[in-house]
Amino acid sequence: MIVSVTANTTLDLTVFMPGWEWNKTIRATDYIYSMGGKPTDASWILGEFGIPSLALGFAAGANGQKVESLLRAKGVNPEFIQVDGETRVCMNVVIQDGKTGQTTITTNMMDVRPEHIEALRNRYQQALDDATVVVLGGTLPKGMTPDFYTDFIRLARERAIPVIFDAAEPNLSAGLKSEPNFIKPNQDELSGFVGKRVETVEDAYEAGRVILERYNTCPIISLGGIGGLAILPDRAYRIPPLEIEVVSATGAGDAILAGLAASIFRKEPIEEGIRLGFAAAAAVCLMPGTADCRKEDVERLYSQVELISYP
Ligand SMILES: Nc1ncnc2c1ncn2[C@@H]1O[C@H](COP(=O)(O)OP(=O)(O)OP(=O)(O)O)[C@@H](O)[C@H]1O
Ligand SMILES: [Mg+2]
Repeated sequence: MIVSVTANTTLDLTVFMPGWEWNKTIRATDYIYSMGGKPTDASWILGEFGIPSLALGFAAGANGQKVESLLRAKGVNPEFIQVDGETRVCMNVVIQDGKTGQTTITTNMMDVRPEHIEALRNRYQQALDDATVVVLGGTLPKGMTPDFYTDFIRLARERAIPVIFDAAEPNLSAGLKSEPNFIKPNQDELSGFVGKRVETVEDAYEAGRVILERYNTCPIISLGGIGGLAILPDRAYRIPPLEIEVVSATGAGDAILAGLAASIFRKEPIEEGIRLGFAAAAAVCLMPGTADCRKEDVERLYSQVELISYP
């Protein structure tokens, strides 16, 4: 069984507009609600692949219920601990002028108490009895500290269960202490970790090798429009971007988490997971909703993904 853990569950609202003007009413041309939060995104995408998963974490209020129903619709089994406040809404604003791109506005609406964390920890330990791979990551709501990731990753690694982890600092460093098998940083997350700007594939390789040597963790790095770089213990691959018409790239990175989890679950070589992950990332870029993709697009794009030995 694949287990995802999302502390900060999120409902994403993507709004498309022709341009931006301050102190004016802007009429959106379109909007779409979809899944947000990295591990729940991965569960959602796995559902589209036809692979069920157990989604653990915290949720609250009507937004939390909407997240649960979106997950159920894809065959995911959500079992969130109910907390105070509200599952947050993230708004992705896409300006359709062909040059501005997209901006994300996040909020933090949930309140987690120590007894909630204890309840999740108990449910998680029970789930680990049947887990083949765990996907963890994302920001943390109020009431939680980065050592949550040190603890939860350690619990899985102690039982030799593979862990895929995706977070920005300071959570990234906290999680790395427990040596997850894979991390999936993007350019900003990797830059935050090394303390200098990662621009090129060469910069990413240098930073990724440091992580591999220090933590025994394989970085599968996504570099937006310039593709990706997978660093494994004895080999590395550059993954060129696919030629696609990008509608919204939000959640594309989370598709890589889903691809990796799928290949570990099916006991396939990790190269299969990288290929599936980058195909699904491109498929997410074709859709307006966060982490939304179509199985037929993933299957069509899969054969186009190249893994080129690097350096
Ligand atoms: N403009 C683009 N053109 C082609 N491919 C893209 C583009 N943007 C993203 N991709 C593909 O999707 C992958 C993941 O994208 P990105 O690096 O933006 O992830 P991310 O920042 O983690 O995204 P998120 O956190 O929103 O899921 C890239 O490595 C690339 O393969
Ligand atoms: Mg990401």
